[in-house]
Amino acid sequence: MALTQDEKKQAVAKAALAYVEPDTVIGVGTGSTANYFIDALASMKHQIEGTVASSVATADRLKSHGIPVLDIHAVDEISVYIDGADEATRHLHLIKGGGAALTREKIVAAVSKKFVCITDDSKLVDVLGAFPLPIEVIPMARSYVARELVKLGGNPFWREGVVTDNGNLILDVHNLKILDPCELETQLNQITGVVTNGLFARRPADVLLLGGENGVETLE
Ligand code: A5P
Repeated sequence: MALTQDEKKQAVAKAALAYVEPDTVIGVGTGSTANYFIDALASMKHQIEGTVASSVATADRLKSHGIPVLDIHAVDEISVYIDGADEATRHLHLIKGGGAALTREKIVAAVSKKFVCITDDSKLVDVLGAFPLPIEVIPMARSYVARELVKLGGNPFWREGVVTDNGNLILDVHNLKILDPCELETQLNQITGVVTNGLFARRPADVLLLGGENGVETLE
């Protein structure tokens, strides 16, 4: 019988345990795949120094398992960051932010020595952009940023009712042609009022674990 998407997510989350280095601090992402990883990490909680969480929801789930959550300012180094993605390419460029946690995710990824991305194989694409690109914006700048995005050919939608852990808003941008993810990531971050965008290309994943029908494939 074919595996469900959840079974693939669970398998890839378990496979990520092989990247957890004992006696170090682990960065932990946000979303349903990251949640499976947190549940699996509970079995190793006495072997690690602690974790840094990329969202309040992730911190809560880690704590519910008795896994120590550390303040990022108190941490010298994060050995590995494990997180999901909304889209991924074979170049290990990603779109993230479907769960609105993109800014904290980008910060934890920046601090981490290694970024291991875990997804089911439905997230693998040739070109990024079918998944609307999330952009975190300062509330006052929402309309201005939206107009600038239209000038770039995008079709931004305000994710109404969502406030990020940082007190900001999310615009989801449809119809962007993301042929050069590094260039677009930089360009979008230049718009005044943008906190950051969900392209993870300048700091891509180092390893992509893909859960599929025949097990877990490793791309690096
Ligand atoms: C959270 O903001 C996102 O970056 C997630 O990593 C992404 O939405 C993946 O979520 P799932 O693991 O639930 O597919």
